[in-house]
Amino acid sequence: MFYVSTPIYYVNDAPHLGHAYTTVAGDVLTRWHRQRGEQVWYLTGTDEHGQKIMRTAEANGVTPQEWADKLVEEAWKPLWRHLEIANDDFIRTTEKRHTERVQEFVQDLYDKGEIYKGGYEGPYCVGCEEFKTPGELLEGDLCPIHKVPVEWLREDNYFFKLSEYGERLLEFYEANPDFVQPASARNEVVQFVKQGLQDLSISRSTFDWGIPIPWDDKHVIYVWVDALLNYATAVGYGSDPARFERIWPANVHLVGKDILRFHAVIWPAMLMANGLPLPGKVFANGWLMVGGEKMSKSNLTGISPQQLTDHFGVDAYRYYFLRAIPFGQDGSFSWEDFAARYTSELANDFGNLASRVAAMVGKYFDGELPAAAVQEEAIATALAATVAKADRAIGDELDFAGGLGAIFEFVKLVNGYLSEQEPWKVAKDTSEEGRARLATILYTAAESLRAVAVLLNPVMPATAEKLWASLGAEEHLGALAAQRVDEAGRWGRLPAGARIVKGEILFPRLESVD
Ligand code: MSP
Repeated sequence: MFYVSTPIYYVNDAPHLGHAYTTVAGDVLTRWHRQRGEQVWYLTGTDEHGQKIMRTAEANGVTPQEWADKLVEEAWKPLWRHLEIANDDFIRTTEKRHTERVQEFVQDLYDKGEIYKGGYEGPYCVGCEEFKTPGELLEGDLCPIHKVPVEWLREDNYFFKLSEYGERLLEFYEANPDFVQPASARNEVVQFVKQGLQDLSISRSTFDWGIPIPWDDKHVIYVWVDALLNYATAVGYGSDPARFERIWPANVHLVGKDILRFHAVIWPAMLMANGLPLPGKVFANGWLMVGGEKMSKSNLTGISPQQLTDHFGVDAYRYYFLRAIPFGQDGSFSWEDFAARYTSELANDFGNLASRVAAMVGKYFDGELPAAAVQEEAIATALAATVAKADRAIGDELDFAGGLGAIFEFVKLVNGYLSEQEPWKVAKDTSEEGRARLATILYTAAESLRAVAVLLNPVMPATAEKLWASLGAEEHLGALAAQRVDEAGRWGRLPAGARIVKGEILFPRLESVD
């Protein structure tokens, strides 16, 4: 089973572009694997405990549970539906299937002697829900991520013996060089662990919005310990052993780079302590930036995912961020860049190719795809190379920009082929050779589009469906979603005789924005 997770998002506010970025990436990755014919499990959800949510709810005059219910139903789930996210499950940390299992997990660590009672004081950032070390604070005791003053927290807490896991973690990173990616993230984690780990405070007693510690109900479990366990509780940990066995462990945990240490250090140590198999990979994506800062609730400048999809459409939205920003690096968004890529790559290169081919098959062959007289080796070979490259890049390396780049290079190549071959001139030659040549050119272009539809389906499902329909492919090849991306390069699958129709324009001209 290919199991992928997103971070579970805090419900203190509605989702923004930064959250959608990771969730779309995971959706493309899992759709890609489904179209390799693999069994896939894609999990997302919400993180609903902790001080941050409690304070937001208080400020809004409702209970934390009411607040979470409202945001999940009115903001988070609707956005994922709107963006065509095909998650297999959505876990909320206030659900019983989660809370009860978290208590069992923590009890198990307690019974194994991995947890002890102690005291701790230090600067705490509620935004991060994390104790900070004095050294990392910015001038004026500000959190380096949220740029707001930290609070001084003193508590008698329960501690997890994280400090005892340093050596085992380093051995694990050594034996599994791809566990943390990209390489910059891996280096950061290794350096951090080499400096020596401190035990982790895993309970709080100054507020009560959390899962009670089973042996001491004056404490609630630290929100991060609670949250990380969603990856296990959602797939049957402690409740459905057969299911758990089938899905566990995750192949890829997608995380933002700000939450890398939780996933690459604390999470594997917790699993080691409990004796569970460790995940395959933690991939840290970069941040979407606004004006040189991490995009966040406070600096959004009012751009919501819905505003962008209203203007560019959902498919272009799913495409743009993955194409424009190398996955793992920070990147900025601008309307101008989005509009430029939309027009040149999606509308001109891709959309026009599809409509030109359909129009010419309509005009010269009454919409019936002719058989090619010869196989155009250059195009067929380029397609096979494109498929291999895209499959490795997107499916294995999470290099979405590289994979999409390869697919769109191929689209350009087919455009170049048409410009060179000038089928509109060949059409004037009504001899048998002329007709055969015209048939070859148009078949080659249509068959190329067949492959492009398959390759782009994980990224732009609605557009790919339209193209599939316009090529008359379904009747001969079956549903697009059942077409294997890794086999998309097998030349000649679209049969002669397919009914090609000029469908609606794939990427209409953009309305001007005021
Ligand atoms: N609840 C924790 C995660 C627990 S996972 C067991 C949390 N939630 S969050 O809502 O604050 O952030 C969730 C994810 O969104 C993080 O991976 C974070 O990096 C990501 N992003 C938030 N703003 C972002 C950008 N501007 N750009 C890219 N990703 C960003 O942390």
